[in-house]
Amino acid sequence: MRKKITVIGAGNVGATTAHWLATRELADVVLVDIAEGIPQGKALDLREATPIIGADVALVGGNDYALTANSDIVIVTAGLARKPGMSRDDLLKKNYEVMESCIRPVVQHSPDSILILVTNPLDAMAQAAYKLSGFSRNRVIGMAGVLDSARFATFIAMELNVSVEDVTAFVLGGHGDTMVPLPRYTTVAGIPITELMDAATIERLVKRTAQGGAEIVAHLKTGSAYYAPSAAAVQMAEAIIKDKKRILPCAAYLEGEYGIHGLFVGVPCKLGARGIEDVIQVRLNPDEQAALLKSADAVRQLVQVIGV
Ligand code: NAI
Ligand code: 2OP
Repeated sequence: MRKKITVIGAGNVGATTAHWLATRELADVVLVDIAEGIPQGKALDLREATPIIGADVALVGGNDYALTANSDIVIVTAGLARKPGMSRDDLLKKNYEVMESCIRPVVQHSPDSILILVTNPLDAMAQAAYKLSGFSRNRVIGMAGVLDSARFATFIAMELNVSVEDVTAFVLGGHGDTMVPLPRYTTVAGIPITELMDAATIERLVKRTAQGGAEIVAHLKTGSAYYAPSAAAVQMAEAIIKDKKRILPCAAYLEGEYGIHGLFVGVPCKLGARGIEDVIQVRLNPDEQAALLKSADAVRQLVQVIGV
């Protein structure tokens, strides 16, 4: 029997997630949104592409969570992006309300599912979903590190004129200005980038990575990135569906790892059929550890506002 993946939110990230899922023939897909007609229309349009791309998967869309019953994975992209005049706290509160409306019906219809959170502010929304769902921590995962690492890898490949396939980039921390790209653990065909680029170049690429989301918003003006974010969520889903045991940077609920307690923060995780099967703890130097704790503090401030 085919696996089933639900995507909540049929906007830019959600619809493109469904697109990548179908392209990779990973599972049947259900798209859910509060907007009437949008998930239905996008799912049908994508389904009509399946004979062309040769993908034997079913895609359906709707506004009723009954459609999502017994999903293996639920990817949550529903929510607002920040608009002019809206404070970070306003966004936080509005998207927390979205989590309150989505997570309960998801849990009711798919009590054994694994949740992948995408909605921003990412780490705080993952924490909200964890608390609202009551799921064990291995089954609630935030997507940010795969995206941030992919951005870092892209900039490195562009700078060195090498294949993106040979770059392995490593980014820790919360998804925001305080994220912690780690050049020491970032390699090209196994060679640390610190051997291949001078410190000023690395610093420039690190800064561009941390501002990667804003760079896309500055181009698009009316929205934020969605091709790479959705590809990142699908890479995580694939690791789970295929029980690949991939080591990917994910926002995970930490219970003492890296000296952080009771908080979602981006760290390297082993992703397999049970979701997060392990949190990988790498040795950090004092500067890296301080940067990670600073990033965790920024996440903690957000979760305190919504009290989760
Ligand atoms: P979008 O505006 O294109 O789509 C959002 C969709 O959510 C809309 O279709 C809307 O109708 C739907 N929605 C709103 N409230 C809902 C509810 N209660 N139930 C179901 N659906 C609901 O926005 P986009 O570009 O798809 O981004 C979605 C979210 O993902 C934003 O919060 C954005 O900041 C975040 N994001 C996070 C990234 C990450 O790295 N974690 C990367 C890119 C986006
Ligand atoms: C990004 O990094 C908006 O969080 C989103 O593109």
